[in-house]
Amino acid sequence: MKISKILLTALMGIMLFSVAANGATKKIVLGFAQIGAESGWRTAETASVKSAAKAAGITLKFSDAQQKQENQIKAIRSFIAQKVDVIALAPVVESGWDTVLQEAKKAKIPVIIVDRTIKVKDQSLYATFVGSDFPLEGKNAAIEMAKLLNGKGNIVELQGTVGSSAQVDRLKGFADEIAKSPNIKMLASQSGDFTIAKGKEVMESFLKKYGNKINGLYAHNDDMALGAIQAIEEFGLKPGVDIKIVSIDGVRGIFEAMAAGKANVTVECNPLLGPQIMDTAKKLAAGQSVPKWIKSNEGIYRMNTAKKELPKRKY
Ligand code: AHR
Repeated sequence: MKISKILLTALMGIMLFSVAANGATKKIVLGFAQIGAESGWRTAETASVKSAAKAAGITLKFSDAQQKQENQIKAIRSFIAQKVDVIALAPVVESGWDTVLQEAKKAKIPVIIVDRTIKVKDQSLYATFVGSDFPLEGKNAAIEMAKLLNGKGNIVELQGTVGSSAQVDRLKGFADEIAKSPNIKMLASQSGDFTIAKGKEVMESFLKKYGNKINGLYAHNDDMALGAIQAIEEFGLKPGVDIKIVSIDGVRGIFEAMAAGKANVTVECNPLLGPQIMDTAKKLAAGQSVPKWIKSNEGIYRMNTAKKELPKRKY
């Protein structure tokens, strides 16, 4: 009993601290290159990472790139210069990471890719991806839209940040599935950059052009759907009724809109990745191997259960 207690304490020590060159132990340092604060989802993710780091006793170096890849690259280089133990990167776009990740690899710093995937030639440039299945989210959104429209109608699409895996994969996942409903026609598809303001602006332009010919809206995130709801109401139509709305994320605002009958379905994408990231950082700092994809568990929520679900939402 005593021995197992001692062993457990020693193991916890190894997980929380890395061994410095002089043999002394030091706290794990994690550098996190975050994208920005474009949406409620992103804010929830940042809060989750910060509180999980605190709870895990990990020193967090946090950088907000203000939506710019060049800022993220600078942040990674600064983490390398500071000799952090692990780097976590939520990549704003899919491509253009090879060089900086080679630098991290050369410095022997393991990299965790967070929430959005990347395209690199050499898969050994990152240790793991912690996040959701975006193509599946797009597919599920299309299944829900087809059901809402009984397989017939005109739809518009608000895309996420162009070149991000969240935009590329949610677009393709939806397009492949909706193609199975030949009587559903895509009238227009444009980026709203994952923000409420841009979602509203682009929806206004869709309404100006197509007016009440639009039967459904697919938005790559809830924030753009929330902006679009404002545009639809100002145009004099009823969101959720005249125009069915399916979006992705599961933020509190969309549950409120669904509870008010103004949105129809949200396909959940979990931003509360902090605990999984810290757990993975500890394993990597201890030299352990981790699976190449650490997937999130997610659901699909509809208007009819929104009131009941609302009090349970954590973000
Ligand atoms: O990468 C995840 C996406 O980024 C979320 O769906 C969106 O809200 C966020 O800004």
